[in-house]
Amino acid sequence: TTSPTEALAKSKLAKQKEKRQRTITSSLESMYPNLDVLHMKSIKSLHVMLRDKRSSHAQFKHYADRLMRILAEEALAACAVERCTVWTATGAEYSGMRPNNNVCVVSIVRAGDSLLDAVLHCSPNLAVGKILIQRNETTVEKSPVLFYTKLPPRIATYDRVLIVDPMLATGGSANMAIQTVLQAGVEESNIIFANVVACPEGIRAIFAAHPNVTIVTAAVDQELNESKYIVPGLGDYGDRYYDTT
Ligand code: PRP
Ligand code: URA
Ligand code: MG
Repeated sequence: TTSPTEALAKSKLAKQKEKRQRTITSSLESMYPNLDVLHMKSIKSLHVMLRDKRSSHAQFKHYADRLMRILAEEALAACAVERCTVWTATGAEYSGMRPNNNVCVVSIVRAGDSLLDAVLHCSPNLAVGKILIQRNETTVEKSPVLFYTKLPPRIATYDRVLIVDPMLATGGSANMAIQTVLQAGVEESNIIFANVVACPEGIRAIFAAHPNVTIVTAAVDQELNESKYIVPGLGDYGDRYYDTT
């Protein structure tokens, strides 16, 4: 059992850590105008459950799916291109950005498929592309390997290409996926990368190679550890989501 003094010291330390993290995040946000970090209370509390190592597979999946629905809506909102005005039932006008269906979603298989499902739940008729990329866990750099690509043949004609992957660690996988989509003729400024947990290293790696891409993320964590896992992170997302630990 912890004494009230210990509990107070612990909560003070946790608050200091959170403040430090907010400072890192806001300096990245001011450095990179195309970085969109979601700051909703709902996302933060779902993250707490996702990061808890005691969460069972069912709990992890439950909270991940709830969080990804919010992220999916925000990522789709970032794909809007047209302002419109509608008449409301009171005879007044209401303006905003119209939801856009001229979007192709590209999943970085495997973990990306969980976020793809959330996006398709919101907008079921979007065109889908798949890129199978895996980190090489035996190398120090975790250099990614591209195994398979299937994209719509006219992918360059969509207003936006939304690449989805829950984890942004070294940025190797995301940059490889962005490169693949660029080679298919898509303009860099039409690419949006949506993800659940990012870190400064991954964000810098993407913007260094592709400054015109937009990143929508539900969290920016502190750093990578020596095994190139995100800290505090949540462990291996794919393994926890698909119960392959
Ligand atoms: C994970 C994750 C990302 C990638 C991030 O995939 O889903 O795709 O690692 O790491 P990076 O930024 O250093 O490239 P992994 O290769 O483990 O495959 P999985 O999706 O099957 O879990
Ligand atoms: N992939 C994950 O699932 N987690 C990390 O921390 C890094 C890559
Ligand atoms: Mg994995």
